[in-house]
Amino acid sequence: MFASGWSLGEQAYRAIQKDLVRHDARTIVEFGSGTSTLRLSRDFPGATVLSLESEPQFCDETRSQLSEVGGGAWVEVALRPIVWQRHSLGFFRSYQPGSFPTDVDAVLIDGPPITTRRGREACLYQVFRYARIGARIYLDDYCRQAEQQVVRNWLRAYPRELVYRETFAVDHQVAVLEKVGERRTPRISPQNALDSAIQNGRSLLGRVRRRWK
Ligand SMILES: C[S@@+](CC[C@H](N)C(=O)[O-])C[C@H]1O[C@@H](n2cnc3c(N)ncnc32)[C@H](O)[C@@H]1O
Repeated sequence: MFASGWSLGEQAYRAIQKDLVRHDARTIVEFGSGTSTLRLSRDFPGATVLSLESEPQFCDETRSQLSEVGGGAWVEVALRPIVWQRHSLGFFRSYQPGSFPTDVDAVLIDGPPITTRRGREACLYQVFRYARIGARIYLDDYCRQAEQQVVRNWLRAYPRELVYRETFAVDHQVAVLEKVGERRTPRISPQNALDSAIQNGRSLLGRVRRRWK
């Protein structure tokens, strides 16, 4: 079912599924919709799933698949376009901020695409305060340096509130973290601010180069 290279992959999904069952996850927030949304709806029939999607086309696709072959979970696929936003001292391109359910048990971050650079980093900053203590956070594509940097930045932003647990070393690899303490806003970190500025500078430079080619 995970046919596209853009998606999580069967083994990664199964590892996450097992972990969700072990942690009795009932309220799940997903960044980046697709086959994973469909599978969650089938495998967790009692769950509430909020799936955020930035592209109208993929939003429609996921919604129509859910209506055709979806399962028993209560699923909302919300269209939240990519916008600039500030968290702490960093500026990010990520999903438009919006509401979240309370007491989130699990967060699956599989978007936005790499072209946003640290877009995935902002996802946790948006949802962290809505997650319960013990919530599991899954970050796909952990084989990439960008995602590894995102985890380092998160751990600096939540030094006593977040711990890295393990990596599911299958498909594109999934980092697994856990919320262990409360914090409303990420801690100010000069290293994170610098990383964000460098990424935005590179992105701008790339755009200028493409324009003048
Ligand atoms: C990695 S995908 C998320 C996939 C989803 N979590 C899954 O495993 O099925 C992240 C985002 O890429 C975009 N996307 C999905 N399929 C795509 C495709 N075939 N080509 C380009 N972008 C795609 C969508 O906006 C999606 O939210």
